[in-house]
Amino acid sequence: MAKRARIKYLLANAKVGMETNVKGWVRTKRGNKNVAFIAMNDGSTINNLQVVADNAVMDEEVMRLVTTGACISVNGQLVESQGKGQSLELQAVDIEVLGVANPEEYPLQPKKHSLEFLREIAHLRPRTNTFGAVLRVRHAMIFAVHKFFNDKGFYNLHTPIITGSDAEGAGEMFRVSTLDPLNPPKTKDGGVDFSKDFFGHETGLTVSGQLEGELGALALSDIYTFGPTFRAENSNTSRHLAEFWMIEPEMAFYDLNDNMDLAEEFLKYLAKYVLENCNEDLEFLNKRALDEEKNLKQEERSELSLVERLQFVIDNDFERLTYTDAIRILRNSKPNKKKRFKFLIDDWGIDLQSEHERFLVEKHFKKPVILYNYPKNIKAFYMRQNEEDSTVRAMDILFPGIGEIVGGSQREERYDVLKARIDELEIPEESLWWYLETRKFGTAPHSGFGLGFERLMIFVTGMKNIRDVIPFPRTPGNAEF
Ligand code: 4AD
Ligand code: MG
Repeated sequence: MAKRARIKYLLANAKVGMETNVKGWVRTKRGNKNVAFIAMNDGSTINNLQVVADNAVMDEEVMRLVTTGACISVNGQLVESQGKGQSLELQAVDIEVLGVANPEEYPLQPKKHSLEFLREIAHLRPRTNTFGAVLRVRHAMIFAVHKFFNDKGFYNLHTPIITGSDAEGAGEMFRVSTLDPLNPPKTKDGGVDFSKDFFGHETGLTVSGQLEGELGALALSDIYTFGPTFRAENSNTSRHLAEFWMIEPEMAFYDLNDNMDLAEEFLKYLAKYVLENCNEDLEFLNKRALDEEKNLKQEERSELSLVERLQFVIDNDFERLTYTDAIRILRNSKPNKKKRFKFLIDDWGIDLQSEHERFLVEKHFKKPVILYNYPKNIKAFYMRQNEEDSTVRAMDILFPGIGEIVGGSQREERYDVLKARIDELEIPEESLWWYLETRKFGTAPHSGFGLGFERLMIFVTGMKNIRDVIPFPRTPGNAEF
């Protein structure tokens, strides 16, 4: 019996006459009682392999069990296809049913299902064209991230997932504990005695690998992390997950400008990588996004298609401006004057909402925007203070359809200034003593940023909801599968 080959390999390399075995799942079966045409997919590519089986091969029993969703193994010979849409098909010699899928129960029928419905069957949705394409592109992007940094001489650093410090200071950590929630040990004043907990103090799931990333950069110069990140923020939006993946490069001797340059180069590289390496899936996703847009009102449609948007990002410099300049633009903007923003822009110092970010990107500049020098009061404690006291060297990159895709900064490397800020914000120093020590021993100017991997995935796939670019999304009220 011939060895199993993947459909991707066969469609790209195989020759007429070759004998092979193929295993995969039935997408559709049509035909009559003399001959059946089975579209088979094994996930290696978006394309199906057409299997042709006459009734000598498929007795009645097999014929009955080969239904949409069933898993089959086919031995046969590749022949030139008579039908259109493919050049090769597999003339079956024998078919074995590895796993049946009762048509009365199998939820994935060969028709269009809504994305909302598919989320409810996330255990099966990888078998659809859309999710197959998304997951293959996701893999390509993971690979591209590592390639980009490896080629640049960065070292990948694994930072801890369980940690005692809330890096972003936003109080959004999931607790990690082995204490009995019904009967925890108590301190003298009645609180929970976390010194009796597994690690001897309070711990949670990390919201960012940055702080440990900095420790790596202050030894290896250029590192990046790529790990899971957890945030217990109750934001049920199309851009927030409770569990997401983040890429966090951290570079010694980089200032804020170097940081912005690297982030822009990185995003362009990823856009180029997907265009060059994911042709078939991207073509499918591009068409899919265009079809979806047809259901939108004219003014809600994007001016560019997915592929055009990717090319646009590659070809155009990102607009760089300060937070202060952005506030000026927003304050004088039409939606602000006509009170069409939900949050009106009035005073300097407020945090920008995604409606403001998207106005700047989609309406005003019509290209990706990097905002920098934010008010220190709306940013994390570790960002470097500017000469004037009120702003820090932060930068956010804003993308069309998404808003913030990257957040980063130059870090405060001066011990006294950092210590004063930690005290001012009443951050418990015992959770950060090791971080402060790097500023005592051989401190150096350094910078870094975080790219939300699923926000990137929204951008490169044209999917609209972050729940549809991760295999098994975690959101408030939802941790199934
Ligand atoms: O802006 P954030 O909170 O920055 C940090 O965590 C820094 N420590 C990064 C650094 O400087 N090393 O998050 C970084 C990015 C955001 O720009 C966004 O793309 C993504 O992470 N992100 C989320 N993605 C999905 N769901 C969420 N709840 C997210 N929160 C942030
Ligand atoms: Mg941010």
